[in-house]
Amino acid sequence: MKKVNFRNLPSQLSLLLLALMLTFSINSFAQDESDVSVAQDTAANAAQTENETGTTEDTVSSNSIGDAEAGKALFNSNCAACHKLDKKGVGPALRGVVERHDREWFYKWISNSQELIASGDAEAVALSKEWNGAVMQSFPGLSNTDIDNILAYTSEPKDVPDTAVIATTASSGDAGGVSTSIVLGALALVFILLIFMLFLVTNTLKKIAVSNGVVYEEKPKRTPIWKAFIENQFLVLVSVIVLLLGGAYFAYGLLMAVGVDQGYMPVQPIHYSHKIHAGANEIDCNYCHSSARKSKHSGIPSLNVCMNCHKNISEYNGEEDIENGYTKEFYTKEIKKLYKAVGWDEAEQKYTGKAEPVKWVRIHNLPDFAYFNHSQHVTVAGIACQECHGPVEEMEIMYQYSPLTMGWCINCHRETNVNIAGNGYYEKIHAELAKKYGVEQVTAAQMGGLECGKCHY
Ligand code: HEC
Ligand code: HEC
Ligand code: HEC
Ligand code: HEC
Ligand code: HEC
Ligand code: HEC
Repeated sequence: MKKVNFRNLPSQLSLLLLALMLTFSINSFAQDESDVSVAQDTAANAAQTENETGTTEDTVSSNSIGDAEAGKALFNSNCAACHKLDKKGVGPALRGVVERHDREWFYKWISNSQELIASGDAEAVALSKEWNGAVMQSFPGLSNTDIDNILAYTSEPKDVPDTAVIATTASSGDAGGVSTSIVLGALALVFILLIFMLFLVTNTLKKIAVSNGVVYEEKPKRTPIWKAFIENQFLVLVSVIVLLLGGAYFAYGLLMAVGVDQGYMPVQPIHYSHKIHAGANEIDCNYCHSSARKSKHSGIPSLNVCMNCHKNISEYNGEEDIENGYTKEFYTKEIKKLYKAVGWDEAEQKYTGKAEPVKWVRIHNLPDFAYFNHSQHVTVAGIACQECHGPVEEMEIMYQYSPLTMGWCINCHRETNVNIAGNGYYEKIHAELAKKYGVEQVTAAQMGGLECGKCHY
């Protein structure tokens, strides 16, 4: 066959090297870029990172003693009940409070404010007066370092909470989160470049071959791959069979799943957690779904119902689930979404009149031709919500627990005894039916719960 004289090998090698270098530089550029974007996001939160790496000093000036991240946790667990960063609570807003007193004063004040006031300290006395003698709890358990940390947290610039979320999620494992798309983009670019390089390399090789006097023969045109494929009957047969089998499998799966939405868990416009409301705070289902007892439908509560409580609950201070990104900041933001939707002005404590209703995505939905009545099951039959809707008080995100198929309804009607005790309406029917079936208990099915007309209009 052809012989290519590789006298020009060095030049080809250098070309390859160039290609390699290019790919690397692009890769590291992408990395730099992603680092930069993370760095920008966390710039505000950088106090402690900067302390570690010692690079920038500009964001936090002389007040940068202490670890803001640790301070935040301390603040939330000890101080947040009375203090907010940017507005008055039971006590003053604390952002930038470091400017107001010197550090020794803070150590004394926070560990025991009453003692400091009693000692006649002018600043403390003035404060106490200004706040009408409201008493701040003492914190003898907090060390000076703890207090430094808290103060570092209160010294952070204002937009920190958001970036802190990004920072914590980024540091809690999936650091790639922000940069994955950039890296993917860069990879795609690299591939395109590689293809281009290969093309160049073959071209140069061809040229080299020609310049070295090697006769370069274009290959005879090959039969295109699709033609070759069609001509090979065995291959065609096998592919058709595979396609048919695969198609049938999918079609069967689809047909069986039509209308069955068990496990359906859509993303709602506000992250509303039943686990927090019905679980942790033990709010009765009927507080919000009051019509379940009285009518066919159970209904979703209007936002006014939410505001009965949320006029006062503007922040979330309960349990966090940091692994899933459910931090206090996350939940608090969701409460702000509620405020936006009802048009509640938190600062003025009044409605602005600019409401934008929340469109909850409906989860449970029977077809129109089936009739289901909540009050009949909840009030008359005395069935707990959980029998059909599952452990709602454990659901961070609501989902459809039961299949809601006809078979599901019927099975339960066959198995469930009607709750007759103390129900005058049933006593006579019961006596008759019990005689008819010769049993003590009557199931919903025996009461007529299997008649098509009961469930189908
Ligand atoms: C029980 C409510 C309460 C708690 C909890 C509380 N504080 Fe206070 N704090 C107050 C009140 C009220 C004042 C206003 C002065 C006064 O009347 O005592 C105040 C004042 C202050 C001041 C002075 C602010 C200024 O404008 O000079 C600082 C600093 C402070 N608190 C820090 C903290 C820190 C840090 C924590 C948590 C470790 C904390 N407080 C927890 C109620 C509280
Ligand atoms: C504080 C108000 C509140 C309480 C208490 C509450 N829910 Fe809800 N519920 C909602 C809201 C808001 C939605 C719509 C958002 C969603 O699906 O998460 C909802 C949705 C649902 C849905 C799905 C509705 C659909 O779209 O098909 C079910 C089922 C449900 N709740 C059952 C319960 C049960 C059972 C309890 C008691 C254990 C309960 N809820 C307690 C507010 C509440
Ligand atoms: C009976 C009082 C009450 C009602 C009614 C109520 N909430 Fe809440 N909500 C709470 C409490 C308590 C918390 C937890 C606060 C905490 O732990 O700091 C909370 C937390 C939240 C949170 C943050 C946690 C989460 O679930 O994501 C959101 C968002 C929220 N509520 C939205 C709503 C919406 C929307 C409604 C109306 C459908 C509503 N709430 C009705 C008491 C209520
Ligand atoms: C016997 C089973 C059963 C019980 C018990 C039950 N549900 Fe339902 N629930 C359903 C079915 C089925 C649907 C779908 C209804 C539809 O699409 O018409 C539904 C729908 C809902 C919805 C969506 C809105 C609506 O009315 O369609 C909410 C909210 C709800 N249920 C809450 C509750 C609450 C709260 C309780 C307890 C007080 C409860 N359910 C008890 C079966 C049940
Ligand atoms: C957890 C068990 C359970 C499930 C699931 C259930 N039911 Fe029932 N259902 C009952 C019981 C018990 C009764 C009897 C109530 C009574 O005393 O009248 C009943 C009664 C009824 C009745 C009235 C029957 C009559 O004789 O008047 C209808 C209609 C009905 N169910 C429809 C449905 C539909 C539709 C579904 C499915 C979407 C369903 N049910 C799912 C337990 C269930
Ligand atoms: C206890 C209530 C109940 C009774 C009784 C009942 N059905 Fe249904 N049926 C349903 C529900 C609920 C659906 C909707 C199921 C779904 O969406 O998957 C349904 C769906 C159907 C469908 C549509 C096909 C399907 O599975 O989705 C047909 C046809 C049907 N029923 C016929 C009947 C006939 C005929 C009878 C009398 C022998 C009957 N049903 C009795 C509740 C009932």
